[in-house]
Amino acid sequence: MPTLALAFDDVPFRAIAEQSLAGFYVVQDERFVYANDTFAAMFGFERTAFIGRRIVDCVTEDSVDEVMHNYQRRISGEVNAIHYVTKGVHRDGRVVHLELHASRVECRGRPAIAGVALDITERVQAQASVRESREQLRRLLKHINSTREIERARLAREVHDVLGGMLSSAKFDLSRIVRRTAAPGLEELHAIAAPLVELMQDTIETARSVSEELRPAGLDLLGLGAALTQAVERFGVRHGLATDVRCSGSFDALPPASAMQIYRIVQEALTNVARHAEATQIELQLSAKAGALVLRLADNGRGLDATPRRPGAIGLFSMAERARDIGATFHARPAGAGGTELLLMLPLPASVTPPA
Ligand SMILES: Nc1ncnc2c1ncn2[C@@H]1O[C@H](COP(=O)(O)OP(=O)(O)OP(=O)(O)O)[C@@H](O)[C@H]1O
Ligand SMILES: [Mg+2]
Repeated sequence: MPTLALAFDDVPFRAIAEQSLAGFYVVQDERFVYANDTFAAMFGFERTAFIGRRIVDCVTEDSVDEVMHNYQRRISGEVNAIHYVTKGVHRDGRVVHLELHASRVECRGRPAIAGVALDITERVQAQASVRESREQLRRLLKHINSTREIERARLAREVHDVLGGMLSSAKFDLSRIVRRTAAPGLEELHAIAAPLVELMQDTIETARSVSEELRPAGLDLLGLGAALTQAVERFGVRHGLATDVRCSGSFDALPPASAMQIYRIVQEALTNVARHAEATQIELQLSAKAGALVLRLADNGRGLDATPRRPGAIGLFSMAERARDIGATFHARPAGAGGTELLLMLPLPASVTPPA
């Protein structure tokens, strides 16, 4: 039966090369001796005008050394083929990013380089623009976080000093009413006023805890370990979760700004546990030893992958950025038992680690 396959020598390579969407070229004596239309167009030339141009005239100044080095290595036979990315110069001065795969061949009895080129300018520009957007997002997040911190501190002062002060005066006056209505004949008024004192006390405590959430005064007074222990335990009580907190080492010399960022990361992580995890237990381990602060917060909930990612969610990104901001590494990953585990590691200045 006659075969349909063409013998290699019968394949019309010329037609394929000339119509190819990839650029084809041959270089000999440091000049282009062949280029298809696509390759010449990458530099803004007609093919006939392009052929004969020197390599060095077709690439950016800062690429010349690398391109010529790669050329020599192949011509000399040191390597046969090289795959690399370089920057060409378009006729109008634009930089064209090229991905090249070229190898040593014999051409008219002498060594030459035959190559295939792809114009990856759009891809490179898209990557640069993604990097730039990410950088802008980082800067924006940093700005938002620092203005939020200022606003939270202002609100915390208002709630603690102003609202807290007003509530304390009201409680003081109510206590006086309760004392004065203890006399016979005033039972009805007394029965109304007495529970109000308790209500007022609860309200004062709520205002205190709102203020503490906004601006953890405990962080300055008690230090990071105690403030986080308190925050996690309070969270456990509020959401009905068992808590296991272990802190070791001293965090006294940790810069206050770093302690605040770590505290905010844990706050954000706890919010996630409440919103997404459906956990029954959380563990916090915090230690400062061997020159590093290590924080691990784990829940035994559904796990990161089991919950649908909300488009536009920035919590985890913001945590990672806060960590980055203080020079820490941060990972959120599935925990062994099926929940979620956050790990933060911050190298510490020598003075933070207690002597062994
Ligand atoms: N502890 C957790 N347990 C299970 N899933 C979690 C946990 N933490 C985060 N997730 C999942 O990861 C996603 C991203 O979390 P992230 O904090 O970035 O966003 P978010 O909480 O949805 O929104 P926000 O921007 O308000 O924080 C969540 O939508 C959720 O699906
Ligand atoms: Mg979140």
